[in-house]
This record gives sequence, structure tokens and C-alpha cells, in this order.
Amino acid sequence: MVRATTGTLGEFEGLDPLVEPVPGRGWDVLAVWGGARLAGTIPVSAAKNAVLPILAASLLADGPTVLRGVPDLEDVRTMCRLLTELGCEVVWQPSRTLRIQNRGLQVHEAPYELVRLMRASFLVMGPLLARAGRAKTALPGGCAIGSRPIDLHLKGFAALGARMEFAHGRIQVEGRGLSGARIYLDFPSVTATENIMMAACLARGTTLIENAAQEPEVVDLAGYLNAAGGRVRGAGTDVVRVEGVDALTGCEYQVIPDRIEAGTFMLAAAMTGGNIRLENVVPEHLKAVVAKLREAGAEVAEESDTSLRVRGPIRPRAVDIKTLPFPGFPTDLQAPAMAMLTRAEGTSIVTETVFENRFLHVDELKRMGADIRIEGRSAIVRGVERLTGAPVRATDLRAGACLVLAGLMAEGITEITGVQHIDRGYADFVGKLQRVGARVERGTMA
Ligand code: UD1
Repeated sequence: MVRATTGTLGEFEGLDPLVEPVPGRGWDVLAVWGGARLAGTIPVSAAKNAVLPILAASLLADGPTVLRGVPDLEDVRTMCRLLTELGCEVVWQPSRTLRIQNRGLQVHEAPYELVRLMRASFLVMGPLLARAGRAKTALPGGCAIGSRPIDLHLKGFAALGARMEFAHGRIQVEGRGLSGARIYLDFPSVTATENIMMAACLARGTTLIENAAQEPEVVDLAGYLNAAGGRVRGAGTDVVRVEGVDALTGCEYQVIPDRIEAGTFMLAAAMTGGNIRLENVVPEHLKAVVAKLREAGAEVAEESDTSLRVRGPIRPRAVDIKTLPFPGFPTDLQAPAMAMLTRAEGTSIVTETVFENRFLHVDELKRMGADIRIEGRSAIVRGVERLTGAPVRATDLRAGACLVLAGLMAEGITEITGVQHIDRGYADFVGKLQRVGARVERGTMA
């Protein structure tokens, strides 16, 4: 039933990949055989959520931006297409290096077909506004994880002196000669902090972003902006201070490792009673995950400044998890962590405080025999002795990872559709799992 093949999200354009098959080919499916104890080494790729804002920020620079070690992800390809549409020359060089040269922005609009594929496309708004004095886009799409407003981004742009206009599902932001301002974010939104930071880089005077997001990806964006001649201070704290400069030059930059990818494989090791060494990690970024894995009975050892080893227990213990902005437990690991808890000894409470409606994986886990009840923003997960493989559907990126992990623990075969969601954010997911002994295959289903 499952035939090996490959596919890219490009082939799904204009389709809803969840319900419509690829023309002439059928649905992409991942088949996961449960039962293997994962063991070996996984090199972690660079962080998707750092690469995307840095690619958007390259619009601010006059000279070329050279990014090293860029992961092979659909979201990265989507952002590259967007930059090309806006007038940049984007060239892949050896060793996954990307060179972006801004050729003078002729277009100021992020097209709907790209924005609907990836919500992070909205990150070009800040740079376009700063550079070209105007930016237009459709309201963003992205993962189906609840209402995801953009009011905080717009509040920031308005404070810097921009005017907004909504019409026909599009939003236009306009304002030449932005001026620094003091902006308080009602929630420490990651991309709002990043968008405002980028817009403020070329504004006159000083901008203070209060209650700013403190995620490592925000710090990495500040690192890039400063390397390119910007003046950003305080990234990683709750107040970011941006002194406007006249222009940014280009620079060479190496993006931080992906803490969510690392966390996903750490959970995979823990829940399969495995023994995995992760290379290219920043342990500092993973403190909340390490704490929860230890509570669940896993052994986690820092083998060097850039590597961690995780050894799983025979059966994990139940732990309560509450998602929070960094340095709290990341919402992007809530679904993968829930996979582990379905088979834990005891009852766990998982509380999602960052996004509403981020429990779409729960019904799919239940099809595999999990015992989960949702009460408001919490999921009560009673650990069961065994999961059994079933046909399930990934509804978003992290839900997809969650189902693959659940399949690794389940008896028999789990068939996962909606695989394209996983391609958005995990580089060579199948290959990396196979490397540590998982039996996972990709194919199509008629
Ligand atoms: C980023 C990450 C995503 C991660 C999320 C939270 C990228 C490309 N994506 O998404 O993987 O899950 O951070 O860590 O970096 N909010 C508002 N108004 C706004 C913006 C956000 O109310 O203008 C709310 C959202 O509805 C949500 C919360 O803030 O409840 C957090 O969202 P936010 O931090 O903005 O997530 P993203 O930046 O979209």
C-alpha cells in the first residue's frame, strides 16, 4: 500500500493538502512501525524560527547576506520565493549556504498564495515598511492552531508612525520616515517583537519594545541585525532597545540550532527507552525540556557545550506540563510531549496557555488508544499500557511530529497523512529517525 517516493509542498499549491490528493499520485503517507528503541547520534539542523526572520531581515540590508547551514525546509523555500518575488536575488551555494542580495525593492506586496502557505511570511512587513515606506499583504495563514491575530505587529508599526488600511482581505501599511517609539506588547509575541525590531532598525531615534519576547530566535535575529550594522540591545530580556541607523550592510551569519527539533528527538529517545546523542544543540535553550524529561524518568547528560545525551526509562512517569513563553516549556513541543505522556505511568495534565485550539492531535492520539480528556485549556492524559497503530492525520506541523512519535511507541503500523505539514519544519525527519533505528517510510496511498 505504501510506495516509496518523494514530494514537495510546491506540488500542493492551490490545494488543501489535508483533503486533496496530489494529482496523479494520491496522498503522501508516512508509515511508522512501532517498537524500536532508538539509539545513535542525530545532528540537529539550524532553527527554522530563526532562519525565517533573518531571511526577512535581509531585505533591510544593502549588501549581500550570506547565511550558513540553512535547513532544507518547505518554509525556507517559501520564504526564498517570497524574497525573490520582492526583488531579491537568492542563490544557494555549497554546504547549504544561502546568499541573498537585495536588488532594490520594486514590489511591496507579499502575495496571497505564499502568505496562506506560511504565516511567517508576515515577517517581511516590518522590513518592507522600513525600507520602502509601504507594505501590503493578505492576512496570514499557517498552522491550524487557533486564532492568530496580528494586532500587536500593527500596534508596533502604528507607534512608529505608520498608517494602516484594510480592504478586500488585504492590509496595507504605509509610512515614510518612521520614528522611534515606546511600545508595550500585551503578550510577548515572538514574531511581533521581531517585526517591530526590524522596522525600528531604520527608524529615526530609539525604540523600546517592552514585554518583548525573550525566545532565543529573537536573540539570533538581533545578532544578525547587529552583524549587519544595526544597533539592537537587550534581546533575550523583556525590554529590547533599538537605535535607528541610516542603513544596514550585509554580513555572513550562522543561525542557531533548532531547539524544537532537538526537543522532539529528545522526547523520541525518552519515550522509546532509547539512547540518543544530539549534536549541534545549545543546552541553555532546552532547560525546560530537560527538566520535564528528568521528571519523567529520563537521564539527560550534557556531553559537551553543544551535545546532549538522552536515555529513556522503560516506561516514562506522568508529568504536568504548562506551555509558556521562553524560558517556559515551548508550545511547539506540547504535542510531541503529549505523545510521550499517553504511555506514561499515571495521569498528566497538559495546559496550553500560548495558543487556543492547539489540541487537534488529541483526537488522533485517541484513535491509537490514548486516554485523553480536554477541559478548557488543559488536556488530562491518563497513561495507558499500550498504543496501537492506526490511520491518523497530521493537522499541523507539531501535531505531525507528535503522531510520528506516538507511532514509534505503538504496536503495529501507524499511517500518517498530512505529511506536508512535517516538511515545513523538520529537515530530513524520516532520514534522521532511520539513522537511529526507527522504521519509518514515506510513500503514497491511492
Ligand atoms: C512563533 C513561532 C511559532 C511558535 C510561537 C510561540 C515563528 C515563525 N513561529 O509564532 O512556531 O509556536 O512563536 O512560541 O517564529 N498574538 C496576539 N496578537 C498578535 C500576535 C500574537 O494576540 O499580534 C498572540 C497569539 O494569538 C498567541 C500568542 O500571542 O496566542 C503567541 O503568538 P506569537 O508569539 O505571536 O506566535 P508567532 O510569533 O506567530
